[in-house]
Amino acid sequence: MIDPFTSSLERPLIAPSILAADFANLGDDCRAAMASGADLLHVDIMDGHFVPNLSMGPAVCSACRQACPETFLDVHLMVTNPQMFFKPFHDAGANAISFHIEVMDSQQHARDLADELRSMGVNPGIVINPPTEVEKILPVVDAFDLVLVMSVNPGFGGQAFIPEVLTKAKAIKQLLKPTQRLEIDGGIAPQTAPLAIDSGIDLLVAGSSIFGQPRDQWAHTIESLRGPKSQK
Ligand code: DX5
Ligand code: ZN
Repeated sequence: MIDPFTSSLERPLIAPSILAADFANLGDDCRAAMASGADLLHVDIMDGHFVPNLSMGPAVCSACRQACPETFLDVHLMVTNPQMFFKPFHDAGANAISFHIEVMDSQQHARDLADELRSMGVNPGIVINPPTEVEKILPVVDAFDLVLVMSVNPGFGGQAFIPEVLTKAKAIKQLLKPTQRLEIDGGIAPQTAPLAIDSGIDLLVAGSSIFGQPRDQWAHTIESLRGPKSQK
């Protein structure tokens, strides 16, 4: 299993979002995505309250864990009460769990939840939506292993990339240590990935641009999302 938080990351990491996978063949799609060069899998959880959609629960995360025992699972909780899902998703095999700054009562609340996840052996992540000003998240990023900048309004895959969020990504990047990841989620495709990477993003979530292609295109797409090898 990779360590996404290594300080010596050579190229951006690619995390296919299983939200866009074929739910009738989810285990095969997870295995095929990893065999096509993905670094980890992104699991999008929606509660129909924080976002206007329902997606999947811990049982689906557990099925992905069974299908891919050695794969890092990056769980994104788009939910109003993330704390109630920490243990169910830890028990379902989640390696990282991210929750939204928009549902935090205070900076201390975010820090307390990060500590709770760490105490469970789970890497904590914090997420910011496109309309939310970056000042909401900057004071707490030090407490997290990953910071996820949403480049669509959460709830559905296949939406258009919102480039304005890259200004926030640059501001957040200034505060991150080499062992912290800056992640982006929404509308990531070969056309938009370079913009994100140029803004300091080093973990890219992509759903429809991967799973929306024929399976024999996935390796090429993943490689093109990562961008050119650095000429070190
Ligand atoms: C939004 C979801 C999507 C998904 C990726 O709530 O979080 O961003 O992961 O969707 P695509 O890559 O299809 O835009
Ligand atoms: Zn997501």
